[in-house]
Amino acid sequence: MADKKKTKSKTKAKKIPAKGKAAVTPAEDITDNKPLKIVIVGHVDHGKSTLVGRLIHDTGSLPEGKLEAIRDMCDRRGMPFEWAFLMDALKSERDQGITIDTSQIWFSTDHRKYVLIDAPGHKEFLKNMVSGAAHAEAALLVIDAEEGVREQSRRHGYLLHLLGVRQVAVAVNKMDLVKYSKERFDEIEAEIHAYLDEIGIAPTHIIPVSSREGDLIVNPSKPMDWYEGPTVAQALDLFEAPVLPTDLPLRFPIQDVYKFDERRIIVGRVESGRLRAGDTLLISPTNKTVRVASIESWNSPSPVLAASAGQSIGITVEDQVFIERGQIASNEENLPIETNVFRARIFWLGRKPLTVGKTYKLKLATSQHNVTVQAIERVIDTGDLSSAEAETVERNAVAEVILRSRGMMVLDEFVDNPATGRFVLVDEYDAVGGGIISMEGYPDQRQSITVKSTNIFSVDHRITPAARSASNGHRPGILWLTGLSGSGKSTIAVELERQLFLKGYHVYVMDGDNLRHGLCADLGFSPEDRTENIRRVGEVASLFADAGFIVITAFISPYRADRQRARSIRSEQFHEVYVKAGLEVCEKRDPKGLYKKARKGEIEMFSGVSAPYEEPEDAECVVDTASLSVSESVAEVMDYIDRHLGGVDHHHETGKEEKAAQTS
Ligand code: ADX
Repeated sequence: MADKKKTKSKTKAKKIPAKGKAAVTPAEDITDNKPLKIVIVGHVDHGKSTLVGRLIHDTGSLPEGKLEAIRDMCDRRGMPFEWAFLMDALKSERDQGITIDTSQIWFSTDHRKYVLIDAPGHKEFLKNMVSGAAHAEAALLVIDAEEGVREQSRRHGYLLHLLGVRQVAVAVNKMDLVKYSKERFDEIEAEIHAYLDEIGIAPTHIIPVSSREGDLIVNPSKPMDWYEGPTVAQALDLFEAPVLPTDLPLRFPIQDVYKFDERRIIVGRVESGRLRAGDTLLISPTNKTVRVASIESWNSPSPVLAASAGQSIGITVEDQVFIERGQIASNEENLPIETNVFRARIFWLGRKPLTVGKTYKLKLATSQHNVTVQAIERVIDTGDLSSAEAETVERNAVAEVILRSRGMMVLDEFVDNPATGRFVLVDEYDAVGGGIISMEGYPDQRQSITVKSTNIFSVDHRITPAARSASNGHRPGILWLTGLSGSGKSTIAVELERQLFLKGYHVYVMDGDNLRHGLCADLGFSPEDRTENIRRVGEVASLFADAGFIVITAFISPYRADRQRARSIRSEQFHEVYVKAGLEVCEKRDPKGLYKKARKGEIEMFSGVSAPYEEPEDAECVVDTASLSVSESVAEVMDYIDRHLGGVDHHHETGKEEKAAQTS
């Protein structure tokens, strides 16, 4: 598929008054002792190491005598001193005797400690990030003032987006080489904004610096007194402190249920948030609520009243609802996502490549699902971070894929909750990959499967479906046309309607653009709104069919799960018609000029361009409008209708008798 939907970064840029250490207003929620994990990314030649060397030195984080030792060493070897040597020196020291492949460099400002996550190569970095071995909470992107945004900078930016690093500041380095020119900086700043905006990252600050000369890393800059923002160190201090697992919404994945004398004890580890005796918990995906009667503890003599992230506990509940391993308990206000499809960024370790259509076992918290690879969206080369479309994902590659399961999975986006936003893939008995979850382009399906009304009963009609069919002379049916915008759905639908009407059928077209003026006027094009749109259409179409009509719906209806739900309301009368035309063809037709607008970024989340379209897998009828004319396409569907929905003659005698018999 297509480009990605733009996700708005939740990070807000903060204003700070002036330069100089003392003027910094740190983020309110800085916790003194928890270090912020940051990663510094950028083109190899754009001066990352120099910047780090400077940062460590100028913040006063260097061990006593270190700088002198390196200067002496340079003198002895007759080479000029480089700030970059500092980073190398610190790194090798840290690495000694440590077997993990991430080295960590520590430094601190007056406000907070930092850990710099560094890995020998992108491969290790990506592997660590995706597997959870390392986790960067913020990033500094370094860009050369002379060179500007290069392909490498783009790839690094994309990497941050991929890994869901939300807080990003940018340092425009080597300003000394462009004579500290404000004009040049303004140019690059615009370039950076344009690019990062494209991938949904809102940089907190863009800072002109010279690492070599020490301008605006920690100290102010004379030659750049035109710049009014924070230094690099200040920008880091303005990043928000990481959210602790205990402060996240409650996620209590059920590990097991034990019968213990008369009691039923539900055990698991609290992955995030807090839980208290007396709390009402909602169990997903069954959506049943229970009240916590007690928290059981094996080694505490006094009763336990609360538990928080990281603790393994057992609870008893007041209600007799079905609970089993794999479900997740949460509070009612802040629920995990329910879906059968999601976007995953995976690190592939399997000896056999990952392939489209293959099914793997997915382990997420305590749950297990069989998931099928629906699509490989792109594969990222861990060597140079380039990305490309591909049919398979080879060992040690990172890829963005779409995974689908049969049943509902309960999960979170990785950026919201790492513990329930990360999974492992297993093939036979081997772990073959790890991944993180993004719902970009996909809806939370909880809303459309939740029934809120209670105490409701059904009223029976006194006219049977058979009587209606007999009276109408044809069976009812839902012809569900799906396809990209511009594929020809509406054109085919209205022509079908005309022809069927002339033949005496009771027929009506429901069209996306029409319903969106009325019944669905409150809905936009976000994944959730589309899901709700299709839910309503599905229900209304079902009512029409119940009334004996042939109803033709013309909606993009991009998600398989939504179409499946529409089908399940009245599956015996549901006929999925795939109005098939590829993106290229539809874009060329562009009857409403919308593709052009979408490409220019004037319409967000446009199906096929920046939002997904999931092709039907087993539509009852496929019309290839790329190769058929309108009348040929209509003829194909007419033929299908004649074969499947005809059969009861219009005002047939026996029909009338039947009607008379059944309405009395
Ligand atoms: S659906 O995705 O929820 O099924 P629906 O069929 O109702 O969409 O509406 C699609 C029509 O809305 C398109 O034919 C087009 O005219 C218009 N439209 C406006 N914005 C978008 C968008 N972002 N993506 C797709 N269609 C859009």
